[in-house]
Amino acid sequence: MGIRKFVTPEIIFGIGSIDQVGESCLRLGAKKVLIVSDVGVVEAGWVEKVIHNCRQVGLDYATFFNITMNPKDFEVERGKEIYQCNNCDSIIGVGGGSALDVAKAIAIVATNGGHISDYEGVDQIKRPLPPMVMISTTAGSGSEVSQFSVIVDTIRQKKMTIISKSLVPDIAIVDPNTLVTKNQGLTASTGLDVLAHAIEAYVSVAANPLTDVQAKNAISLVSEYLRPSVASKTNMEAKMAMAMASLQAGLAFSNAILGAVHAMSHAIGGRFPLAHGDINAILLPHVMEFNFIATPKRFMDIAAMMGIDVRGMDPSEAGRKAIEKVRVLSSEIGAPKRLSDMGLKEDDIHAMSKIALEDACMITNPRDVTLEDIEQLFRLAL
Ligand SMILES: [Fe+2]
Repeated sequence: MGIRKFVTPEIIFGIGSIDQVGESCLRLGAKKVLIVSDVGVVEAGWVEKVIHNCRQVGLDYATFFNITMNPKDFEVERGKEIYQCNNCDSIIGVGGGSALDVAKAIAIVATNGGHISDYEGVDQIKRPLPPMVMISTTAGSGSEVSQFSVIVDTIRQKKMTIISKSLVPDIAIVDPNTLVTKNQGLTASTGLDVLAHAIEAYVSVAANPLTDVQAKNAISLVSEYLRPSVASKTNMEAKMAMAMASLQAGLAFSNAILGAVHAMSHAIGGRFPLAHGDINAILLPHVMEFNFIATPKRFMDIAAMMGIDVRGMDPSEAGRKAIEKVRVLSSEIGAPKRLSDMGLKEDDIHAMSKIALEDACMITNPRDVTLEDIEQLFRLAL
């Protein structure tokens, strides 16, 4: 193993931690923050809570809430104008992956200039970013701890993956209480995204002992607590566990990066207005089957993390059981099963496969992938 680095923000975890946002910003030297969120999170009441807390500590603020699912480059541009017009010096993101990724993207263009597409790929950010405090309200994207921002380039109709250590927020606030306002569908979809993060990070070619411990725990927590979290808005034991799973999966994938599931999912999300977690839920078992021969022992570990008694099994049998277990979990919590049910067609496959092959997440997939492989995987998932 070569040199490994592990990046992480300061993390504030626990029920009621959202009330530490104002003080956190002050510690970073903030005078005027831009609060970035989306309408759903505003309606759930979490932004009001953040604003109230900022006022309490005497912190000035501006707001930007015009963000859609699979957030777009022009939304980043609008947010940047509000940041600059209001002379903001720091950013709070409140929400799921969309809001937090836009908050980070605004931070990039507000301080580095140009268009967000200038920063696609790895390590393209040259100047320091303003202080960032990220509050996740879904379990979830992991964006509150990650070095990722994923934004749709609307001209090229593709999701750009931007990876840089500069994107790691200064402070991540994870308050499990915020999960109680999520509906069943969103809880299932975002929870399966957590599982995809943890599994992809665990089999990534950049996995290492620092990321493994995070990924393994996240897989166990999702296996045990995603069902009860979907079943009840108020099961706080399940919410705490899923918040921790999301956080740990975020730390794992931020540092070990991802794989073919996310590369392919980004290709779909750039063209179709579909939930990221739903797409991943469909792709994950197919990609696991494809990747199995690259690292059978790791798939055996995943089976054990998912609660399967692997004693006496060979890796092949254990790996098959892990894949089956992922399918059963998805099915039991009502995740979609086929891409065609979501409107995708055979005609879309070639173009999407070409985009997926170029995605930064494909670099760390454990098995070499050709264009034909991706087309075949899309066909299996169709
Ligand atoms: Fe994801």
